[in-house]
Amino acid sequence: MVLQMKKEAIRIERLKKYYNNKPVLEDINLVIYEEEIFGLLGPNGAGKSTLMECIVGLRPYDYGEVYIDGESLGYRGNNIKEKIGFVPQDPLLYDDLTVEENIRFFASMYDVPKNLVKNRIDLLTNWLNMHEFINKKVKILSGGQKRRAGIAVSLIHEPDILILDEPTTGLDPNIRREFWNIIKKLNEDGKTIVISTHYMEEADELCERVGIINDGKILDIDAPIELKRRYGGSIKIVIHVRTRFLEKALEALAEYNAELHIDRIIIPDRDESDISEIKKYLLANDIIPESIEVKMPTLEDVFIHLTGRRLGDNE
Ligand SMILES: Nc1ncnc2c1ncn2[C@@H]1O[C@H](COP(=O)(O)OP(=O)(O)O)[C@@H](O)[C@H]1O
Ligand SMILES: [Mg+2]
Repeated sequence: MVLQMKKEAIRIERLKKYYNNKPVLEDINLVIYEEEIFGLLGPNGAGKSTLMECIVGLRPYDYGEVYIDGESLGYRGNNIKEKIGFVPQDPLLYDDLTVEENIRFFASMYDVPKNLVKNRIDLLTNWLNMHEFINKKVKILSGGQKRRAGIAVSLIHEPDILILDEPTTGLDPNIRREFWNIIKKLNEDGKTIVISTHYMEEADELCERVGIINDGKILDIDAPIELKRRYGGSIKIVIHVRTRFLEKALEALAEYNAELHIDRIIIPDRDESDISEIKKYLLANDIIPESIEVKMPTLEDVFIHLTGRRLGDNE
């Protein structure tokens, strides 16, 4: 992909945000291109929601500027709403209205011409596979259905940019996959997608580029494969042994540069072809491994490298 040829959808320059004099966003610089899927990957409390709310104009910021389509947020005021659809982590829906009634309510808020609404609702119902619950009240929907309804209301005005704040948090892994497909489809349809997540697989699988965010700072931005290349380390072998064997195993594997990582032994720069020899070494020392596997670098490794923490540390 040749990014230089892509047009900018969102540009964030030197953005700062404080809550009670405590910095929550520190000098955020970020460009999101048209028609890409951009991910913000970071743990709880990193500042993802705050950043998204600043981008969509729901939260004032203290310094810097946000540009949508080249125009600063400050000047555009309300017009920005036409360009952007925002899906908060907990979608804003009226519990006592049906999904269709909710969509109609948002359609009127966005001044969608009345004669277009029915057609768009039908399209969204198909796209998001909502037939089963389009006429049900929001309060009886499952978590996944509610999230889909949340996406529907934020698409009724046909925005170019869709911003989703942790759209799959708490959903079953297989339902999460369904969401990835929906998001990919929307992107293929021409929408620019910005999504926040604390699931590294989600960022890896879905996003063309990822910004790693922690403690209000973006630590790096690039394609997942580039980030893994840069920070993820090499292919390695991960060995599980019972705790009482740990020390002995480390000793036995010293010449492989074995390292202890919490409760696992890591052997850097080795792959599949080394496993049988390593196993022999361990068995010769009366150590029976629980498991030995090859591990490719992940975005979790990237995050650990950049922050010294695991992504899910505070869960
Ligand atoms: N309204 C608020 N007032 C004060 N602090 C807040 C407020 N909203 C969020 N924070 C703090 O700002 C930081 C970033 O929060 P948030 O943007 O929600 O992170 P994330 O979405 O990545 O979990 C956290 O430390 C959170 O406690
Ligand atoms: Mg959040």
